[in-house]
Amino acid sequence: MNTDSEKTQIDLQQYMVEHQDELLEQVVAFNELMNRYDAAIKEVSTKLEILKSDLKLHCKRDCVTAIQYRIKTPVSIFNKLNKRGVKVNLESIRRELNDVAGIRVICSYIDDIYTVAEKLGSQDDIYVVEIKDYIKNPKPNGYRSYHMIVEVPVFFSDAKELLRVEIQIRTVAMDFWATLEHDMKYKKEIADSADIVEELKQCADTISETDRHMMALRDRIARG
Ligand code: GTP
Ligand code: MG
Repeated sequence: MNTDSEKTQIDLQQYMVEHQDELLEQVVAFNELMNRYDAAIKEVSTKLEILKSDLKLHCKRDCVTAIQYRIKTPVSIFNKLNKRGVKVNLESIRRELNDVAGIRVICSYIDDIYTVAEKLGSQDDIYVVEIKDYIKNPKPNGYRSYHMIVEVPVFFSDAKELLRVEIQIRTVAMDFWATLEHDMKYKKEIADSADIVEELKQCADTISETDRHMMALRDRIARG
């Protein structure tokens, strides 16, 4: 007699054998879509790298300290669509998800964030779809960052395609906070989680105050 899990395993194997051509086609098409998002990241991150070095020349300091990027993993794509009750296919991935291609820009000061956002958003082959300013309007938990969803045209061998990219722009200090807060969210059991949430909120407010203070000090130092 087979156990339930052995039966599921056998059913799955049988399904895969019977549908192997179809499955292979889907894997190839999925990889092709991910390759397109990867190209969109290359387009936008190149623009940001150019802005980074040009701003450095003009401002004589590092306005942008780091540019990071990632493609959403298949598991994460599947879970997000599943949570929304949306059937997973290439069309729903394109339609529903803004963050398959994600770029994070880390800046020194708050005003650098707005400079980068404005310079990128005003390029004539970048279409700004949405902006969420969580610096002017922080989330209740204290989260701060400037989010842009943009569309960028990418030229492939067969066509030109507009692809969506999520860009998060934040200071080094905001990034420091968001990383720890993110780790907390993914840790299921924390003994004093209510206290931690409250203390993180206080840290976010302190960080915001310090970010602003540092900017004022930078200007006083520059004035001499
Ligand atoms: P999703 O969160 O992607 O479903 O979309 P949304 O419409 O809520 O977008 P939003 O712009 O609020 O958030 C997009 C991304 O920003 C998230 O996937 C996170 O990477 C980041 N983010 C948003 N809120 C928080 C937060 O409270 N803490 C941390 N650490 N990151 C956040
Ligand atoms: Mg969210």
